[in-house]
Amino acid sequence: MSDLHNRKVYHPNEEFAKNAAIKSMDEYRALQDEATNDYEGFWGRFAKEKLDWVEPFTNVLDESDFPFVKWFDGGKLNVSSQCIDRHLDARGDKTAILFEGDRGDVQKITYKELSKNVNKFANLLKEDFEVKKGDRVVIYMPMIPEAAYAMLACARIGAIHSIVFGGFSAEALKDRIQDAEAKVVITADGAYRKTKPYMLKPVVDTALEGETPVKKVLVVERNNEEINWVDGRDYSYHELIKNKSDVCAPEVMDSEDPLFLLYTSGSTGKPKGVQHNSAGYILWAQMTMEWVFDVKEDDVYWCTADVGWITGHTYIVYGPLAMGATTVMFEGVITYPDAGRPWKMVQDHKVNQFYTAPTAIRVLHKMGEHEPANYDVSSLKVLGTVGEPIDPPAWKWYYEEVGNSKCAIVDTYWQTETGGHVVSPLPGATPIKPACATLPLPGIMAEIIDEEGNTPELGEKGLMCITRPWPAMIRGVWGDKERFIKSYFGDVKKDGKPVYFTGDGAVYDKDGYITITGRTDDVINVSGHRMGTAEVEAAILKDDNVAEVAVVGKPHPLKGEGIFAYIALKSEVSDEEAEKKSINNIIKQEIGNIALCDHIIFVPGLPKTRSGKIMRRILRSIAKGEEITQDISTLEDPSIVEKIVAMAK
Ligand code: PRX
Repeated sequence: MSDLHNRKVYHPNEEFAKNAAIKSMDEYRALQDEATNDYEGFWGRFAKEKLDWVEPFTNVLDESDFPFVKWFDGGKLNVSSQCIDRHLDARGDKTAILFEGDRGDVQKITYKELSKNVNKFANLLKEDFEVKKGDRVVIYMPMIPEAAYAMLACARIGAIHSIVFGGFSAEALKDRIQDAEAKVVITADGAYRKTKPYMLKPVVDTALEGETPVKKVLVVERNNEEINWVDGRDYSYHELIKNKSDVCAPEVMDSEDPLFLLYTSGSTGKPKGVQHNSAGYILWAQMTMEWVFDVKEDDVYWCTADVGWITGHTYIVYGPLAMGATTVMFEGVITYPDAGRPWKMVQDHKVNQFYTAPTAIRVLHKMGEHEPANYDVSSLKVLGTVGEPIDPPAWKWYYEEVGNSKCAIVDTYWQTETGGHVVSPLPGATPIKPACATLPLPGIMAEIIDEEGNTPELGEKGLMCITRPWPAMIRGVWGDKERFIKSYFGDVKKDGKPVYFTGDGAVYDKDGYITITGRTDDVINVSGHRMGTAEVEAAILKDDNVAEVAVVGKPHPLKGEGIFAYIALKSEVSDEEAEKKSINNIIKQEIGNIALCDHIIFVPGLPKTRSGKIMRRILRSIAKGEEITQDISTLEDPSIVEKIVAMAK
């Protein structure tokens, strides 16, 4: 962080700024002041301007039961109508979803077609599966348009969807199904990756073995590979959808009726079902699309995330459709057949905004430094990054080679819990600096503070907090009120009142710009995927020969962080490599490939205090190859540290 205060500043492109949604820092400050001076007035104004209400709200913000807050109370609306119906007159024939399959097949779905498909899907869920308002529906799907139809169909009838990323294992899927008590699973036979079919339905079959709340499974046929069908439980989407009406009246929802759950990792225990509700979420999804990506009516916008993560929810489906944009959905692998694939897609579809993760940027940089120049990527205006801190070399390559030094880079900082961006540059207004999320968005009271609510000294790390509730904030952890309070409102107070703590560290520079420094808790960020060390440890402990384990993150040149496991075995093994393989196999079964360990070392014991607490800080330092500066004299067995250091070399 030594050069934190002296980073080069890049000013917004003047031509671009002329037409931007927010055109200057003066406009930005005016909005921020408006929110500071009259918080409820600010949000009430945008909620009226941006959303189509069936019945208007009577109150903007109710904090009487903080941290359980209510936004836009009394208001009634339907999120699928916000995303579809209100565009039908103005842009019914415009492409809503531009789908490119793994094998290059392209499908353009207009808003009118989207409306028909979603209404039919909604009728199917209601009529054939008896799904009602408030029921939970698990979606375990590849990146195909039917995944978006499924989400919007749930929203249309008031069912709460819970998407499980297709890379999660049967065990992980089962846990999430059970926690949400889902009665329906929507899946596909599989899809294509690198032109080869892969399967999802068999994973669902395994997840549903034994006791399950799931009564019915809907299977979208994508690759038409042979799959197992369970009579009375499994149904073909293509069969059932045939005779459905394409008219389905939207369920009238309260502002605070739940829209979806999305399970994410925390520092302790099992993943938590983050709950987002209707009005506040869709409002901020739409506003940030307009402000941060600056999408115009004829633009084509592409976010490379998967719908299984929050980025896919807010910035592939809900945000773009709420604002009436054309959103690209891509089934394939971004580096296949080569690292020119995304730039070819930008050229073919004339993409204007491109949004991806630092891991993808690093890989594309490494595999194809000059690939962007082989294609016409001149349509690009805004480049986004999300999910993990980006490093300056990757940022510079993105800016210069992909953006041709003329596109704004929006380093968007947010989380599953925040629903949408919270700290980010505005492309027409904010002067940007490499690898810096810059400033809080208007209306978001994001601040770096210490545990007592004080601003840290300049250049000192503090805690990234949000000191007032915002419309798209998490409304609860499914089925666990206590965990919601403890996870987010337990650690930091300002003016004596608990505030939302993100779990991230951050630092201000001399201009008040925010740079995110990474998690301060036991969450690791592998390729932008959030992983709780406790979850990985619980999986490893399922190996009968494992006595103790501690997992930490280790910086990785491409993935950001890799997983490093220190394992004490119950008895010695003759073949350490075979044991490591078997441990990774267990992780694959329990969580999925995304949680595989990059490093496993077998140690005689773990460094613990006399009260039995594992000193993870020491293990993190060892994984990084740092010198141990911590005081180890209080450890139960200080000599263990030296032994582990020698083994980790
Ligand atoms: O540590 C932060 C990191 O990703 C975490 C949130 O992960 P998740 O809920 O899976 O959502 C990812 C997509 C929003 C944060 O706590 N993170 C996210 N964006 C950034 C980031 N770290 C640094 N810079 C970012 N722009």
